[in-house]
This record gives sequence, C-alpha cells and structure tokens, in this order.
Amino acid sequence: MAEYETVEHDVLVIGAGGAGLRAAIEASAAGVSVGMVCKSLLGKAHTVMAEGGIAAALANVDDRDNWKVHFADTMRGGQYVNNWRMAELHAKEAPDRVRELEAWGAVFDRTKDGRILQRNFGGHKYPRLAHVGDRTGLEMIRTLQDHGVHQGIDVHMEQTVLTLLQEGERVVGAFAYDRERGRFKVFRAKAVVLATGGVGRAYKITSNSWEYTGDGHALAYFAGAELIDMEFVQFHPTGMVWPPSVRGILVTEGVRGEGGVLTNKEGRRFMFDDIPDNYKGQTADNEEEGWRYCQGDKNARRPPELLTRDHVARCIVREIKEGRGSPHGGVFLDISWIKQRVADGEDYIKRKLPSMYHQFKQLADIDITAGAMEVGPTTHYMMGGIRVDSDTQMSRLPGLFAAGECAAGINGANRLGGNSLSDLLVFGKRAGEFAAQYAKENELGRVDDRQTEGAARQALDPFERAANAQGEGAYQVQHELQEMMQDLVGIVREEDEMLRALAGIAELRARAGKVGVMGNREFNPGWHTALDLKNLLTVSEAIARAGLERKESRGAHFRDDYPEKDPEFATVNTIIWQGTDGEMQIRRDPLPQMPEHLKQVIEEMK
Ligand code: FUM
Repeated sequence: MAEYETVEHDVLVIGAGGAGLRAAIEASAAGVSVGMVCKSLLGKAHTVMAEGGIAAALANVDDRDNWKVHFADTMRGGQYVNNWRMAELHAKEAPDRVRELEAWGAVFDRTKDGRILQRNFGGHKYPRLAHVGDRTGLEMIRTLQDHGVHQGIDVHMEQTVLTLLQEGERVVGAFAYDRERGRFKVFRAKAVVLATGGVGRAYKITSNSWEYTGDGHALAYFAGAELIDMEFVQFHPTGMVWPPSVRGILVTEGVRGEGGVLTNKEGRRFMFDDIPDNYKGQTADNEEEGWRYCQGDKNARRPPELLTRDHVARCIVREIKEGRGSPHGGVFLDISWIKQRVADGEDYIKRKLPSMYHQFKQLADIDITAGAMEVGPTTHYMMGGIRVDSDTQMSRLPGLFAAGECAAGINGANRLGGNSLSDLLVFGKRAGEFAAQYAKENELGRVDDRQTEGAARQALDPFERAANAQGEGAYQVQHELQEMMQDLVGIVREEDEMLRALAGIAELRARAGKVGVMGNREFNPGWHTALDLKNLLTVSEAIARAGLERKESRGAHFRDDYPEKDPEFATVNTIIWQGTDGEMQIRRDPLPQMPEHLKQVIEEMK
C-alpha cells in the first residue's frame, strides 16, 4: 500500500476562482481551517472573463431598479426554468455582496456624484452592471485574493483532483496529483466545496482556458450527486474570430452596452429583424432610440443588440449561414461609430473598454476606435451543473457543497450577462458559511485506502500502455471530441446529430481508455490531458443526453427539429445521475412550486 502526503483541513475548497475564493473567505471567517486547491496558479480563473460587470440592483444610475426587477429579469432571461429560490436570494443579496467587495478594496468606476457606476447589459431592464472598465472579473479576483490570503487560507496551487473520497455517501476529502512533480496527495476534510467552473473545453471554440474540463461536474457525478439542466450551454454571441489563433477569446457584452452595433456584410443592423415575443414592445425599433437608451434616456427602449445572449447568438449564426457574414466567418461589431455622437470619442472608447482596445490592437492589429471588429459566438458558460440546496448549496451527498458555475439552478435556460459574478459572490458566501457549519458539526471521516489506491492505479495506467506500445495520444481524442461537440451539440441541434454525438462519445471513451503517455510524471502535459479526458467525455455525454431529453427549444437549447417552446417542458428540470450499473441515467423532475408573492412580482414586472 503506497504512502501519500496527507493534508487535513476542516473545509476543502476545490477551485480558486471567484466562487472558491468567496467560499474560502466565508468559511475561514467562521473560524475553521480552510484549504483551497487550484488547478493552475492562484488568480488564473474564468471569473476574469466576466469583463463587463457584476449585476446587482444598486439603483445608482436608475432609481427604478430594485431586487424585484432583477429577480424578474433573471427569471425571464432563464425562460422560467430557473430555481426561483436561488434567483430570489441572488437578486436580494447581490447589492450587499458588491458593497462588501468595495469595502475590501475593489475600485469600481464611479458616477459623477461618486457612487458605483452601472452600465447596461443584455436582458437587464435598467443599467445594473457595476464595473471596472472592461476588467471587472479581474478586479474582483484581485480583491478576493488579497482579502483571502490575509485570512490565513492555505493555498495548494497546480493540483488536480482526481476523485472525491467518501465514507459511505458522505464526502470526506479528495485525492489529487500535483501537476509539477506528478506526486499524489490525499486531502482529508470535514466538508468539501466544489467551485471548479465550467466545461468550455468540451468545445472547439470557447472563451474558456485549458482548466475548464468539467472537473467539478464529473467529480460530483461519479461520487453520486445529481446534475441538472446539462442541455443549457451558453454560447456568448461575441468572441474573436480572426486570426485563427485567437478564435473564441471573449469580446465583452460591455461593447454593446456602450452602444456597439452588430451589422452584416451588407451593413444592415440585422438584430432589428427578429425581436422575440417576450421582449416585443420593450425593444427599440429604430437606431436613434437604441442610442438614447445607451446614453441613459429613461424613456427609451433597449437596442436589439441588448437582447439575451441565446437570441443574439442565434441571429448571428443565421446571418453567417445565409451568407451575410464577415470575411472570416463572423459578423461586424462596431463601437467606433459613436465618435459621431460623443465628444472625444476615441478617448471615450479607450476609457470605457481599455482591454478590448488592447486585445484587438495586439492580437488582430485592429483599432476598435477606428473600425469594426469581426465577432462570432463562443462557448462561454454552463448553466447546467451540480444540483444543490438553494439556501445551503449542499448537494445530495452529505459534506459536499458546490458554488459558482459548476453548481446549477439560478440561471435556468439562459444566464444574463453579469449574473455570474453576483452568483458566485452570493452563493460562494453561502457555500462557505454552510460548509463551515457542517465542519463544526462533524469529525473528519475515514479514508478508505482502496479508494486512493484505485485512483492512483488508474491515473498511472496511461504510462503502462505507452510502455506496452498500445496507446494513442490524448490530444487526438480531445481534439476529435471538441470538433464533434461543436458540430453536433452546438448552438443549433437536432435528434439525429445528438444521437451521432452519443455514439461518437462512446467510441472516443473506448479510445481514451487506451491512451498512452510517454515520459515521466514531472510536468507532463500529455499525461494531464489524458487524465482530463474522463471528465470531458462525461460532461459531453450529459449535455447530449439532456439535449435529447428536452424535445423543445428554450433559452440556450435550440433544436431545429423542435423549434418552439413546449408547455410540457416549461415546468421540468432534466436530472442526470450515475446508475448502479455505472451507466448515465436521465429523468425529468418537476420544478419547485413558486410561491404566490413571487409570481406576483413577475406579473407586475411584465
Ligand atoms: O461579456 C462579458 O463581459 C461577460 C460577462 C459575463 O459572462 O457575465
């Protein structure tokens, strides 16, 4: 029996983006010892890709805003399959979480009278996104990191968790390897919080960096937790399309919030052509009114570029498919035109969107103050994830909590931009608080050596296969999976495609089981990729199965063979779990009943 380095904490947080940091801060403040595991370096998190702002009804720019409007917007954006309780908690608590962040040192842009400035974003009725230029997520991570490290949180960098350790159903720790040296490590903990982010690397075109391979989703699934609504994958309408090396990098919705317009190769603002029923009457029908909205005119209606992401992404795909796209397979996004309207326009754009200016200048040699960008949809965010209790964030497994993107419920079928940052603060805090409480009420559990031995053996298998000259490379399998998910389970899907994807995933899983890795365990990217495949294949299968189950189009899930919403699916979540035979299972569960007073809020806001 091998000996491994063992570390003990009361609460172990797996993932060190915004949700993980916020959970760790809260647990530590409750007086328990906290360890935080990062897959890469502390501070490198997808949180920084929420550039344009954090949504909270502070009502600093428009005093008509309040939690009820934010709640109703979130539910409508999510097409009413959201967990109403999470949406309620989120809308009520987000303003306090933003003010707290400010007290911890976040330097937000200001209104003229010195309050936190808020900007417009898709689907939010009023200017609601507190922001720091177009670097809001970055400022948030910086602030949480500074605050967290001064609280005595132990940080374990460059560690990948391979499996959750369990005593019966209860989660009692995690088994990981250190990416630099390749050594195994046992983390024992009284409570574990998963905050590993999303699944973007299952797709070819994504704003997610290499870490986002669905680790938390898969760890929870294999431990026996349930996943919900895995069919809802968010394709952000605007990623870079050119040059090929930067395809998928995010172009913040803040560009459209500041007045950027989408046009096709004919110069037409095609977003005016298709206004969904639930936003009719609330969307500007001419360019002038849209611009007045962006300038803060309270009587103007939003421009169609600020409709929800699912809709904007589909309109862009339509333009490209019908031959009206830009030269490199996108459409045009132009902010430079506002120089005709604002004094010192060039400086104004650079001040409001500094990162976008530098990103395009340096990566594509384009000056966004002088001409249009080329953009197209990019896989950005996962609405589906680990099913948790709305108040405590505990999964169905005792001792296992989840927060942020890997947990699900609040966003329903489509997330509104900026709600991710407020989600991870609100529910990161809650997860940390309740994990600490659980840790105080329970002792450390027993670690079963057979579990750690089995996980270690499995992790080392690829070296054995290479030695026996059996295996193919991990990158080829990963590449084929990404291509297939992009083509068959992308923005627009249909039954036949998703069935082909499932067959393809089964074949790739068989090949992944034969992958061989050369070299040794010290910083070996081929080995890391081989180990990520299990999670990528698992979340891909869950997305395809849930996509097949939901025979309708709703939010980010659009089926060519069922292009309309179906009332039968208006009241259900799809639930995925691992059956006792090891196969993935799926069922539909009714949505929790919304109380009357919240139904009334939604009615009033209509
Ligand atoms: O477009 C953006 O800045 C992204 C924001 C988000 O995903 O919340």
